[in-house]
Amino acid sequence: MVVKNMKIKDSKCMVAYFSRPGNNYVGGRIVNLPVGNTEVVAKMIQGMTAGDLFRIEPVNPYPEDYTETTEVAREELRTNARPKLVGHLETLASYDVIFLGYPNWWGTMPMPVLTFLEAYDFSGKTIVPFCTHEGSGLGRSVTDIRTKCPRSTILDGLAIRGGDVKSAQDEVSAWLREIGMKTQASRFGLL
Ligand SMILES: Cc1cc2nc3c(=O)[nH]c(=O)nc-3n(C[C@H](O)[C@H](O)[C@H](O)COP(=O)(O)O)c2cc1C
Repeated sequence: MVVKNMKIKDSKCMVAYFSRPGNNYVGGRIVNLPVGNTEVVAKMIQGMTAGDLFRIEPVNPYPEDYTETTEVAREELRTNARPKLVGHLETLASYDVIFLGYPNWWGTMPMPVLTFLEAYDFSGKTIVPFCTHEGSGLGRSVTDIRTKCPRSTILDGLAIRGGDVKSAQDEVSAWLREIGMKTQASRFGLL
């Protein structure tokens, strides 16, 4: 279900994201990404909405190596781990809309994103998921967010393939318009 005409147009928004730079599997081969795919999309959304940006960062960084990271992540999922995060957002209460970005890891979001969701009260807020992936789209992540935040409105979310993030401007801005978010372009009467 796509939620349209949401009254989120004038809401104050925050773009919170987890993204892992380093070696990753993109389009069938391992490449080194100095900036993670999800971070590219997060910054696009932030630029278009003039929202604030918050990086969800675990205290213990994941390995630079792709395969090692998949193993650590699989174990965290198996044990339902909650990796500790760097920093705490004192201002979360002041946002109505939280864009929540992450890569698809093993079919859902990385466990630090769950730590983030449990660290704050999202009641009454709108959470807008977006993810980057290598073929599985959002997986079961949106269902998992809905289970975790039953008192929030969770939109369906946007999935972008990792290799496509740099050319995703049009897709992202069309999606923002579709969900009713006021963008910088519409603010200046350009759309
Ligand atoms: C630990 C791990 C698990 C992954 N699991 C999946 C998966 O189940 N499905 C999928 O489509 N992509 C999977 N990927 C690929 C990432 O979702 C994809 O490369 C994403 O764009 C990485 O985003 P980032 O650069 O912001 O971290 C996985 C990558 C890693 C490192």
